[in-house]
Amino acid sequence: MTRLSIEPTDGPVGAFVSGIDLAETPDPAAAATLRTALGDHGVLFFREQSLTPEAHIAFAESLAPIVINRFFTPVAGYPNIAEVRKEADQKNNIGGAWHADHSYDQIPAMGSILVAKELPPMGGDTLFAGMYAAHDSLPDDIRERIAGLRALHSSRHVFGAGAAHLNDPDNDQGDRYGNAHAATQDVWHPVVIRHPLSGRKSLYVNPDFAVRIDGLPEAESDALLALLFEHARRPEHIYRFEWEPGSIALWDNRATWHLALNDYHGHRRLMHRITLAGVALESGESN
Ligand code: OGA
Ligand code: MN
Repeated sequence: MTRLSIEPTDGPVGAFVSGIDLAETPDPAAAATLRTALGDHGVLFFREQSLTPEAHIAFAESLAPIVINRFFTPVAGYPNIAEVRKEADQKNNIGGAWHADHSYDQIPAMGSILVAKELPPMGGDTLFAGMYAAHDSLPDDIRERIAGLRALHSSRHVFGAGAAHLNDPDNDQGDRYGNAHAATQDVWHPVVIRHPLSGRKSLYVNPDFAVRIDGLPEAESDALLALLFEHARRPEHIYRFEWEPGSIALWDNRATWHLALNDYHGHRRLMHRITLAGVALESGESN
């Protein structure tokens, strides 16, 4: 039997996991090792896997309960697997701007398991940005300024009835989203959280969903968010993952952002995503 091995990428975030066949549900010891590694590295990559939807579900449930994304169209017959799909004739993709999934939820999802089903002949990589590094590399005065602040996260402008991009006649994403009426639960989270698995401080605002910093006039809030976003997406915080048939990415939304590159027009890309339940988030100031 090969041994589970976890090798950090050559970038600032992520690790490659080998010595495990995810078609067989990880036992509790392996699942615990993977959870700890996820907290440490932010995203885990697996190669040369072959997962049926049933095995995907069993793998997910070995790590955490599944949460169903209420805006994504599910895979036919599998209500707890979201379809992340772009057809050859579609222009827009899902997740094409920097974000952390589900930060607009009261108890945000821990992470997701994304399984490659059909890949374009080239392109379609996913970028991951490390939020431990983004936090720790902030200038001292900014780190001090944001410690203890809260930010409002919202899904209204992304998934809600009035979302500009969904009402844009040039945007062809319509069949992939639904439930706009559910995009109403805005929530305050600490700008810097204490990561529930690693105990490290992590920057927890993202460009898609964080809209306002508590207690600041709007212009100041906008400027501070813009500064944090600009800093976090600097190249030194980013790892670019190239998908291959059989690749799987398991990411932690509390330690990373991600962005799906949309550079494969004319080709289909199909992924299956299961989202894992998380816990309430505590401020980085807490012990
Ligand atoms: C997602 C997402 C990235 C990708 O599934 O949440 O953002 O590369 N996907 O498809
Ligand atoms: Mn996403």
